[in-house]
Amino acid sequence: MATAARSALQQLSLQAKPVGQTLTPNSAILRFAGSANLTVDQVNRKRSELLTTFGLNVISVRPEPGVVAIAIARPKRRLVTIEQVWDRWSPQATEAANQDVVIGLKEDDNSLLTFSPGNLHAPHTLIAGSTGSGKSVLMQSILLGLAVTNSPEQARIILIDPKQGVDYFAFDALPHLDGGVVDTQDAAVERLEWLVAEMERRYRLFREHRANGVGTYNAKVSPAHRLATYWVIHDEFADWMLTDEYKAAVTSTVGRLGVKARAAGIHLIFAAQRPEANVMPMQLRSQLGNRLILRVDSGRHFRDRTRRAGR
Ligand SMILES: Nc1ncnc2c1ncn2[C@@H]1O[C@H](COP(=O)(O)OP(=O)(O)OP(=O)(O)O)[C@@H](O)[C@H]1O
Ligand SMILES: [Mg+2]
Repeated sequence: MATAARSALQQLSLQAKPVGQTLTPNSAILRFAGSANLTVDQVNRKRSELLTTFGLNVISVRPEPGVVAIAIARPKRRLVTIEQVWDRWSPQATEAANQDVVIGLKEDDNSLLTFSPGNLHAPHTLIAGSTGSGKSVLMQSILLGLAVTNSPEQARIILIDPKQGVDYFAFDALPHLDGGVVDTQDAAVERLEWLVAEMERRYRLFREHRANGVGTYNAKVSPAHRLATYWVIHDEFADWMLTDEYKAAVTSTVGRLGVKARAAGIHLIFAAQRPEANVMPMQLRSQLGNRLILRVDSGRHFRDRTRRAGR
């Protein structure tokens, strides 16, 4: 593909001096020395010709220091297995356990795509994508990632699944699971309200121990007194949001958890097909700051702070 791209650029009167290449699951990223005869704009202007005349589907053209990086779609996307991702992953273990979530490989440079609800990024996450786009599979891989990098004492997972656990029957036996798969609205509300109380309890403990969060607290106390991180994984939450009572209860508990939850070691990961205003009030949406957007029918819900997640 590198040779084909080089010859295509030359035939289009662009300079093409290769300086490197990287293969990602979706594309080959070819790097060429930038010059007056090879700029990002020039390549962008030739995109349709590159496709129609040379069969090269340019996904992106990005500037790098001294370099124009052109990503060209591979004829067939490569499937990345969870093992391949985990093999390259060495999450930082701290007293507060692993709080990094790995979700795949980055299109830009093939490095691991991870996010850290515990510190770097927002404490709570929204996963969105139309039906069949891979929300539940992504949630399962997040679940497994948390389970392999934390002991059951370090990470407690509250799994809420309106689809009665069909996607998660295999997870019933996971020792990290706090109270089995939750599949009724009443039980879900009860668990969320319990979490708010637990958060308040933790803040009292932090005050007593002069700690500013679960990390410093766990570093101060003996291993037996360390606090677990709570992960609430809520699949298809929009389905239940059509029930007014549930909507009110979830919006209110999530609002109370809000920004205080991070220090308390409580993280929410909610998935929905179409997080529209009627199922997802603004207040709730703004709490779920990390956005993992799979394939969607309309981009209009995600203009703000969108991060694209590859499958
Ligand atoms: N990361 C992936 N790698 C490979 N195949 C995948 C991946 N994600 C999803 N799939 C395939 O797509 C199918 C649908 O995925 P999934 O059930 O996660 O979609 P969903 O977004 O949860 O859909 P729904 O909204 O209907 O629940 C899976 O059964 C699997 O075959
Ligand atoms: Mg699903």
